[in-house]
Amino acid sequence: MDTESWKAAAAREAAKLVRDGMVVGLGSGTTVAKLIEALSELRPDATYIAASSSSERLARDLGLKLTGFENHQQLDLTIDGADEVDPNFDLIKGHGGAHTREKIIAEAARRVAIIVDKSKLVRRLGQRFPVPVEVLPFAKDYTIKKLAALGSPLLKTKDGAPFVTDNGNYLVEVWFKRISNAAKLEKKINSLPGVIDNGIFTGLADVIFAGHEDGCTVLRDRRGFLKFLKQAESKG
Ligand code: 5RP
Repeated sequence: MDTESWKAAAAREAAKLVRDGMVVGLGSGTTVAKLIEALSELRPDATYIAASSSSERLARDLGLKLTGFENHQQLDLTIDGADEVDPNFDLIKGHGGAHTREKIIAEAARRVAIIVDKSKLVRRLGQRFPVPVEVLPFAKDYTIKKLAALGSPLLKTKDGAPFVTDNGNYLVEVWFKRISNAAKLEKKINSLPGVIDNGIFTGLADVIFAGHEDGCTVLRDRRGFLKFLKQAESKG
C-alpha cells in the first residue's frame, strides 16, 4: 500500500479548488503537508490561514502568503485531512492534536474539502481511531474521570510527558465500543468540564478527495461514497 502517493493524489486534486484572491484555511497532518507543497507550486496567489504551527512553518518556508484568523473570519474554503470519514461525511480528526483550531477554520469556511487516502474511509466512526479530546491541564484528572464514564480514555504522552497542543493544553484519546450517533457524542463530550473540543466533526465536510492506486476520486454524496467504498473493499 503506497498511501503516501495516494495522499499526494488527493492533495493535488483538491489544490485545484483554490483560486487567486481566495482566503483558504489549511488544516494539518501529513496529507496537508502534501497539499501545501502542491499549493506553493500551483496556487501561490491566494491567502492562507494555518490551523497548526507545523502547517504554518511549512507554508511560510514554501513561500505561501499567510494571515491570521483574526483578520478574516469568513474563509472561502478550508482544506484538511482526517483520520476517519464515514458515509455521512462525519469525521474523526485530531490525531495530530490540532482539531480545535481545525474545527474553527472549518466552521468559518463557505466550503470544506477533506483530503484522505482511501484507507481513511469507514462505514462507522471509531473503528480504527480513538476520539482525541483537548483538555485543560488544570482539570486533567477530573476530566479523564468524566470521560471514563463514556469510553476508555488515555492521556497522550510524548517522551514520557503529556503531549502539549499548540494551545498549551493536553490531549486525551478516547476509545468507544460503538459510536452510533456521532453528533450526539460530539456534543456530550464537549459538555464535560475541562474539555476544550473533541475530534468528532459533524456536518462540516462538503466534499471528500479520496486518493488511491489509480489517482483520486471526488466523493460528493453518501451514494457516491458507499459505491466507492464497496469497490475499495473488494480490491482490498
Ligand atoms: C490533525 C488532523 C489530521 O488532519 C489527521 O490526523 C490526518 O493526518 P494525516 O494526514 O497525517 O493522516 O486532524 O489534527
